[in-house]
Amino acid sequence: MEKIYLSELKSNETISRDLYNTHGAILVHKGTKMTDLLKHKLLKNDVQFFFSTRKLTPITAEYAKFFDDTTIRKAEKANKVYQESFDELANQFEFFKDNYHLNKKVITDIATQLADSISGSDQVFVGIQGIKEKDFYTYTHSLNVAVFSIIFANSMSLSTAETREIALAALLHDIGKIQMPDSILTKPFKLTVSEMNQMKNHPKIGYDILKNELSYSEEIALAALQHHEKVNKKGYPYGLSWDSLHPYSRMLAICDIYDAVTTNRVYREGMLPHQGINFLMSIVGSELDFSLTTQFVRSIAPYPLFTKVLLNTGEEGVVIRLHGNYPHRPVVRLIHHNLVRDLMSELTVFVSEVLK
Ligand SMILES: [Fe+2]
Repeated sequence: MEKIYLSELKSNETISRDLYNTHGAILVHKGTKMTDLLKHKLLKNDVQFFFSTRKLTPITAEYAKFFDDTTIRKAEKANKVYQESFDELANQFEFFKDNYHLNKKVITDIATQLADSISGSDQVFVGIQGIKEKDFYTYTHSLNVAVFSIIFANSMSLSTAETREIALAALLHDIGKIQMPDSILTKPFKLTVSEMNQMKNHPKIGYDILKNELSYSEEIALAALQHHEKVNKKGYPYGLSWDSLHPYSRMLAICDIYDAVTTNRVYREGMLPHQGINFLMSIVGSELDFSLTTQFVRSIAPYPLFTKVLLNTGEEGVVIRLHGNYPHRPVVRLIHHNLVRDLMSELTVFVSEVLK
């Protein structure tokens, strides 16, 4: 991904590629003429640089030889839905930032399309967790949380309407961050205490935007307000008790932490899925509750499709299939031998490490 500084662009130059901001939304469209006025406008909005590509790398091409055509097609479709949802979401949020107008129908359509396409192909979707860009964090995070909340809702047999609703709540849960300065949102290292305090306002701002400005339901607005509350009442903004939270808020709190710890950030590598699961279990009792967290952990495969693993036999392989109730004993296709090991039938073989 190439970083292009505004100062490098000549006046009257016709821009040959779309230019994106740090959130992944298009700032300057391909074919636009870079005038002095436009430069001035961008500088006024504190735009100093752009990214020239926003490629959310699909992981299917690399592993195509290990999978059958149906799985590859499913994974490609999942990637397409994800990519299109990302584009729409980024554009809607950027437009909202500048004009304070959000097309609610478009956001609802994204939630519905995601919710409807994930049912029945969870394993493939978990596999798109390979898309973990360190740039464009804010919008990919909202989308990932939506994907996890749908898988979570499916595992709890929530109705179609509820699943779509929690997906919508997930897409909007961090909307309050729109009012946070980019200098805080994209800061590549730890926030100062005052920056952190400012950041901790985003749930209240989000609630206000959703409830009062955009007239969303109380459920949707509460998910934004309560997703950083914790079991030990040390969450923010209010330090509420876990039992008093709306059920969607409790579910999103779990999805939010899982995505945050498993995503690459500028200042640190994200954890692997099984490490993320271990991390969630380590904060059960203090930050999260036992029954809901174990339910989430059961719904998320520790070794999703496409995961590269090392077996205790010393062999390296790729997870090509999961057994519904035993996701920790996947079917592994060996990389250096044309062999498949089904860990459900070879009980002395197990995954000893997840490889990058
Ligand atoms: Fe948040």
